Amino acid sequence: MNKQYWADSWKPDYNKFNHSGWKLLSQFRRNDKILDIGCGYNLFKQRLGDKVYGIDPYNNEADELVSWEAYEPKEKFNVYLCLGSLNFGTEEVVEKQVAKLAEVTNKGDRIYWRQNPGTGDHPWKGVEAIKFYPWTIDKNYEWAKKYGFYVKTCHMDTGNRIYAEWFKGNEYEYFAYMVHDDDPREYAL
Ligand SMILES: C[S@@+](CC[C@H](N)C(=O)[O-])C[C@H]1O[C@@H](n2cnc3c(N)ncnc32)[C@H](O)[C@@H]1O
Repeated sequence: MNKQYWADSWKPDYNKFNHSGWKLLSQFRRNDKILDIGCGYNLFKQRLGDKVYGIDPYNNEADELVSWEAYEPKEKFNVYLCLGSLNFGTEEVVEKQVAKLAEVTNKGDRIYWRQNPGTGDHPWKGVEAIKFYPWTIDKNYEWAKKYGFYVKTCHMDTGNRIYAEWFKGNEYEYFAYMVHDDDPREYAL
């Protein structure tokens, strides 16, 4: 049922988000390698090409048809996108997905999030069968701390979504990273 919903009913709209849609392009650096987890139609891949690798269990536009749980890392990435994709099922399920992020990432890696706070407000047929995990801003800080991430920012985005940026490491490591960050940001809308 979930497969049918994500493959046939749901549609993306990157224009409507002030932070977690196309605006993310301004965050990407020249040398970033990006893993888009639950990429849906793989829209960043269409825009940025081989810099992005999209995985999704249900959407044929993905580079690899696989869930985050079953994904086996083959290449090295330093940026991870979790845009509305680690947001389904129980708290236990989502916490395990966060734990896998902690396992797979290295110090200095960045994670960009869009989270649905559990409203199930999609307009498409079949949404009633989707169990949204109710993300909160507090849960971002709790899990980031537990799993070794520094929360650079976490606040509401447009469309009643949460936007968050996590950095693998602690606050001091994040500021050291920023001071030495000379990789140009060269993408824009
Ligand atoms: C709301 S859509 C967002 C898609 C895309 N990230 C975007 O912003 O357009 C949620 C996506 O998460 C995918 N998904 C659901 N469960 C997943 C899992 N366990 N691992 C990876 N992706 C998953 C769905 O197939 C769907 O494409």
